[in-house]
Amino acid sequence: MEYEDGEYVISTDPARLDLAFLCRTLNATYWAGDRPREVIEASVRNSICFGLYRKTTGEQAGFARVVTDQATFSWVCDVVIDERHRGQGLGKWLMSCVVAHPCVKNTNSLLGTRDAHGLYEKFGYRRSSGMRRPSDRARGRETGTAQSAPVA
Ligand SMILES: CC(C)(COP(=O)(O)OP(=O)(O)OC[C@H]1O[C@@H](n2cnc3c(N)ncnc32)[C@H](O)[C@@H]1OP(=O)(O)O)[C@@H](O)C(=O)NCCC(=O)NCCS
Repeated sequence: MEYEDGEYVISTDPARLDLAFLCRTLNATYWAGDRPREVIEASVRNSICFGLYRKTTGEQAGFARVVTDQATFSWVCDVVIDERHRGQGLGKWLMSCVVAHPCVKNTNSLLGTRDAHGLYEKFGYRRSSGMRRPSDRARGRETGTAQSAPVA
């Protein structure tokens, strides 16, 4: 799908994504600072990705992705606008496209944020608490223990 507004375009075409941009931008966030390139690559491959691009240059300026069963549940994550393009409504436009997407609009949609509650509340998200199981990789780091082997 493609959405246009002024100087920018949002596309869900995975072929347009700029992996170098994704690694640089996500590694600068508080939640994905240590996410390796191969993990970013796999996450993108297995998600519905929304890339935001400048029309004139094709350069990527933003990103969001959705993990979903496309029927009942969606998880919106990795929402980021490049620093140079912030503060002009692009984050809101990106989120409006995400929540209107056919794979998201009728699902129960969750996301996590440390400080951008006000942004997501504009799109119908409500604060709630829940449980979370960090990855084995992250838990191993916290406890200093080796990762457990999968149980057959
Ligand atoms: C958050 C982010 C995506 C917003 O993108 P943006 O294009 O700069 O934002 P917009 O210009 O569309 O405006 C965002 C709106 O949400 C509000 N908002 C609430 N919390 C915010 C926050 N933590 N950061 C930015 N905006 C926030 C702003 O005040 C603004 O509302 P307004 O239009 O009523 O003034 C961008 O600042 C970013 O990439 N930040 C770093 C990564 C990040 O924190 N992502 C979200 C984590 S879940």
